[in-house]
Amino acid sequence: MRKKVFFFLLLPALQLSAQGLKDAYEGLFTVGVSVNLRNVTDSAQAALICRNYNSVTAENAMKPASTEREEGRFDWRGADRVANFCRQHGIKMRGHCLMWHNQIGRWMYEDEEGNPLPKEEFFRRMRNHIHAVVSRYKDVVYCWDVVNEAITDDRRADNPYRQTPMYRIAGEEFIANAFRFAHEADSTALLFYNDYNECDPVRSRRIYEMVLRLKADGVPIDGIGMQGHYNLRRPQPEELDRAIRLYRQLVHHIHITELDVRASSQQGGDLQFSKDGTTASDSLDERLAAQYGRIFTVLRRHSDVIDNVTFWNLSDRDSWLGAKNYPLPFDVNYQPKRAYDVILQKKDVTQ
Ligand code: XIL
Repeated sequence: MRKKVFFFLLLPALQLSAQGLKDAYEGLFTVGVSVNLRNVTDSAQAALICRNYNSVTAENAMKPASTEREEGRFDWRGADRVANFCRQHGIKMRGHCLMWHNQIGRWMYEDEEGNPLPKEEFFRRMRNHIHAVVSRYKDVVYCWDVVNEAITDDRRADNPYRQTPMYRIAGEEFIANAFRFAHEADSTALLFYNDYNECDPVRSRRIYEMVLRLKADGVPIDGIGMQGHYNLRRPQPEELDRAIRLYRQLVHHIHITELDVRASSQQGGDLQFSKDGTTASDSLDERLAAQYGRIFTVLRRHSDVIDNVTFWNLSDRDSWLGAKNYPLPFDVNYQPKRAYDVILQKKDVTQ
């Protein structure tokens, strides 16, 4: 009898400790992670994913260079592994990404001599690619980053667009058509424009104006993906808040698609950890937790329009930034850091 009482007293505590990020944010937004093939194969890492996340993005496996390195020669091995993991565990995926100037075969926009393709041929290849990928993962992918990073880094340029081969062939029509083709292939998927430095006032204005124009032309665009590659100081809460307020005037769906908070910044001397060592300091850990706390405080306030927040990589060991940036809530040993607790506990941090 005693034992039973003890067990029931313990139960809430057990449940609490079994709660992952996805549970803590239920009703606010889904919480996602980008994964590599190791993450979904290793059983401990897979368990960590299932416990904390209810949205998954393939870090590289669904990019054009992975799925169709040469025209018409599809290789679905990587993408299928991630998709099958998600199917098996009932996790929905963010599709990433259909059109980007990186990690894409040149065949998409050049002939064999390296000349730019005529516009119609470029559109034909782009359409085939988009149809093939989107159709294959329709059952498990609920949204796509259709066009990635089309706005220039040059804040002073007259032309807001990145001068990529694809842009040079077709101008803005390249962007519009990518969305149209994705919509043809899956009319139920949510379609996103995705970019970085999205809190910068010049870039955010350019993103806003582009999406406004596309929507006015009837292009099927549902949302804006804010990549969220941040650092310990930026964006400040007001900067993040301002960008979200701008975007939410236009779209009903905002996703934070690639969140991480790097330790390095332009002021590299500010780093609080040994550059040659592998151990992060307490104060760095504290600052990371504080910045994640500030970011999530703003995100929670906009949870009516933000429907997903995705971390870019599972742990510091997996980070594309290298482990020395300590950018994620899980450390190199897949252990939760202070940042994890601050996010999980939904503590408001305003300074
Ligand atoms: C990165 C991956 O994490 C790396 O493994 C790869 O080598 C390069 O691409 N913005 C994006 C992502 O939209 O696709 C990028 O992912 C990170 C920046």
